[in-house]
Amino acid sequence: MGAPPAADGRYHAIVIGSGLAGLLTALEASAAGPVLVLTKAGLEEGATGQAQGGIAAAIGPGDSPAQHLADTVAAGAGLVDEAMARILVEGAPACIRALERYGVAFDGAGAGPAFGREGAHRRARVLHARGDRTGAAIEAALAQRIADGGVAVRERALATEVVLEGGRAAGVRALDLAEGGERVFEAPAVALATGGAGAAFSHTTNPPVATADGIALAFAAGAEVADLEFCQFHPTAFRRAGAPPFLISEALRGEGAVLRDAAGRAFMADHHELADLAPRDVVARAMLAEMRAAGADHVRLDCTALDGVDPVERFPAIAAFCRAQGVDIRREPVPVAPAAHYLMGGVRTDDHGRTTVPGLYACGETAATGVHGANRLASNSLLETAVFASRAAAHIAAGGGGALPRHARAIAVAPGGSVPPDRAALQRLLWERAGIERDGAGLRAALAEARAWPVSPPEPSRDWGERRALALFAELLLTAALAREESRGAHFRTDFPERDDARWLRRQVFRRAG
Ligand code: FAD
Ligand code: SIN
Repeated sequence: MGAPPAADGRYHAIVIGSGLAGLLTALEASAAGPVLVLTKAGLEEGATGQAQGGIAAAIGPGDSPAQHLADTVAAGAGLVDEAMARILVEGAPACIRALERYGVAFDGAGAGPAFGREGAHRRARVLHARGDRTGAAIEAALAQRIADGGVAVRERALATEVVLEGGRAAGVRALDLAEGGERVFEAPAVALATGGAGAAFSHTTNPPVATADGIALAFAAGAEVADLEFCQFHPTAFRRAGAPPFLISEALRGEGAVLRDAAGRAFMADHHELADLAPRDVVARAMLAEMRAAGADHVRLDCTALDGVDPVERFPAIAAFCRAQGVDIRREPVPVAPAAHYLMGGVRTDDHGRTTVPGLYACGETAATGVHGANRLASNSLLETAVFASRAAAHIAAGGGGALPRHARAIAVAPGGSVPPDRAALQRLLWERAGIERDGAGLRAALAEARAWPVSPPEPSRDWGERRALALFAELLLTAALAREESRGAHFRTDFPERDDARWLRRQVFRRAG
């Protein structure tokens, strides 16, 4: 896809990434001037198009933003920024209306939307579209709006550097992966919308583009990053040797699916009062314990007796995937195991998506707004992405300006600059040493190993760029996880299994030394 040049050769804004965060920012910021979207793969490749469960919004009868806020705060284990989370939950109705205006048709019967339920939500408040193809419906609707014109798009363009002038963002350096060569695009506002980092782990629900590029770009530009020890592991990814990564939505458990061990016993009630709908970290650790006890690499999700719902009709994408793997979800249990799913941490931003570098914005999964604290409530991510992308776009359209003040206790980090020759080795290292359970010895050893990777000269390829971003991310994550000597939310240390509010009721914020 080609990009029509802006009339004066400069753009009003450049957006890196074409998921929900990138497309919404671009569409809404383009009201004020020409906007360019750079995206390293195809337009619709990313986590957004794969989202299944849906988008949380407290708009149903008897529900309220206050209840949604309470659930969000409880899931976040003491670290949720309540002012930001209030903006999130109160922004939900307008966000749903906006998505509908863009062409997203949420599922419902007659009077209004149908609400699904997911873990740690005390109410059914998750809107979905096309059953379990919510993300695909959102991505397709926005991509259609982009195709209607007004926003320039360059596919297969890998952003490699945020260009700075006088300490503020002034453009983006990018590799043209289709034609070869490098180009610099100029704009007074640059928005990072590069998604998550799940591809840093051996087992993940994330697409291959999720390589922490936004964190690496921001950190190199001098912006602060935060909360990188908090990576959420989704309990139920399909697990069978040779099968591609695939999420089995928590919404199935919301409709009555049950986790069982090899003997068919439903085990979650032994671990938490909410049983199968306990918070994700609790379910993932319980599954790990069951798998270890049985010497198995998976447990089973029984979807054969949902509460008055046909699993194939309600979850057509999951049913089709499982069928292709030889599993009929109406009749047999699905083999599942936890996998890296969502990064709560990222580039530190304020309520307008501003980072600590003037002119540099971040939104979507690459941002750390503080709304998730130490653990994200299910289906709050699409909501966060939409609410804060819209706010960033409005700020950019209004002329931008200012920056998030630096954090008083930010820690200066000097990364080694190493790049692993082998991506799989990095993924194994993080999965084994910084996965669902961690300890000091393992984290220390992993950090030493990561720092011993060679410092290889730059190569003009997507693979090298991604390995470089992954290596920096690994070093920052390991540093953060080693320092946090307690267990909280998604971060579980076997050598410090208790939450320690006296020492750790605070976020860890890092910036580049020098
Ligand atoms: P993405 O949609 O991942 O987009 C990132 C974009 O950045 C891509 O276009 C990528 O190619 C581009 N990019 C990255 N690096 C570069 C670079 N260097 N240069 C150029 N382009 C770059 N959340 C919910 O709330 N509800 C759900 O039901 C739900 N289900 C999920 C199911 C799955 C399988 C997964 C993986 C996630 C799910 N999530 C869900 C999380 C949610 O989908 C994501 O957090 C959200 O979609 C992130 O949107 P984004 O725009 O930030 O990132
Ligand atoms: C799911 O459908 O289980 C994923 C929802 C989410 O990650 O928010």
